[in-house]
Amino acid sequence: MFSMHVIDRVIHERIIEKKIRLENKRPLPPSFVNRLRKELMIEYTYDSNAIEGSSLTLNETRLVIEEGITIGKKPLSEVQGAKNHPEAIEFIEKMVYGSEDISEEKILHLHEIILKGIEPDAGNYRVSGVIVTGAMFTPPRSNEVPQLTQELIDWLKKNIEEYSPIELAARFHHKFVKIHPFSEGNGRIARLLLNAILMRNGYPFLINITNKDRAKYLTSLQEADLGNLEAFVNFIARSSERILDIYLNALDEPEILTLKQASELSPYSVDYLSLLARRGRIAAFKKGNKWQMTKDELMKYVAEMEAKRNRNKY
Ligand SMILES: Nc1ncnc2c1ncn2[C@@H]1O[C@H](COP(=O)(O)OP(=O)(O)OP(=O)(O)O)[C@@H](O)[C@H]1O
Ligand SMILES: [Mg+2]
Repeated sequence: MFSMHVIDRVIHERIIEKKIRLENKRPLPPSFVNRLRKELMIEYTYDSNAIEGSSLTLNETRLVIEEGITIGKKPLSEVQGAKNHPEAIEFIEKMVYGSEDISEEKILHLHEIILKGIEPDAGNYRVSGVIVTGAMFTPPRSNEVPQLTQELIDWLKKNIEEYSPIELAARFHHKFVKIHPFSEGNGRIARLLLNAILMRNGYPFLINITNKDRAKYLTSLQEADLGNLEAFVNFIARSSERILDIYLNALDEPEILTLKQASELSPYSVDYLSLLARRGRIAAFKKGNKWQMTKDELMKYVAEMEAKRNRNKY
């Protein structure tokens, strides 16, 4: 069957290039991964809960997760929601690294983790109708939910080769929230499953749909309801690119040059560079008693001088 692919080719190629660049840096230093992982987990928890209306700030979320404390002025359900999320993220991670597929059982368990101590129906499909605020469609009747969910899981398996991971994950997310299998927690679970699909395909931990992007997220879902997936798929693409950028930027240790190396890369002699360094004209620093600078700073200086020369010409 012919399927329409809607991911933007330019964005997609850029993402693939960044993904390869990140893969070439593997294995990533464990200390780096652990530090980043913890921070990303806190941010993800904050954003995913904020999208659903939790009033916890990023800092309060951090306190709840790191110190396990309760924020007096905030509802217990919101505090519990923040506590539950890291466990759900870890469940997704284990699933991905164990090469386990998304199944009905896994989805129900995820719901149980997310809504533990918050909703009495945690771990169970809804047994009544539901409406999605801001949506024009009505989700299917509750008695259809188990079969539709199973069909969606089958759809995912059948389409692994059909779509790029990003488009597959985005389409899965949309189909999932259209079924709306649960009375509560559908969005949070959809975003976690999106991550499971992307991480399974080598995307880094974690693709975060931010609260800042909430309006864009919801508008593109509305467009998807009308059959146009383009905005939503590309919204997910941009969110995926952002996490690749975070890793690449964090890993990008500046290239340090000796004066001799800097001289070879620029029109300047070692002596002149040394003078520039001593006078603070170029951002250099001393290693022992020798001047060094980053390649970026050198290139910035060269470009500035070039621009100045050109200005003086006219
Ligand atoms: N127009 C739409 N079309 C499809 N899905 C939508 C639409 N608007 C919102 N959604 C999805 O539904 C989720 C919110 O659903 P709802 O307001 O019913 O809360 P919920 O089911 O309890 O989700 P939660 O984690 O997500 O609290 C959003 O996060 C989004 O993923
Ligand atoms: Mg909700």
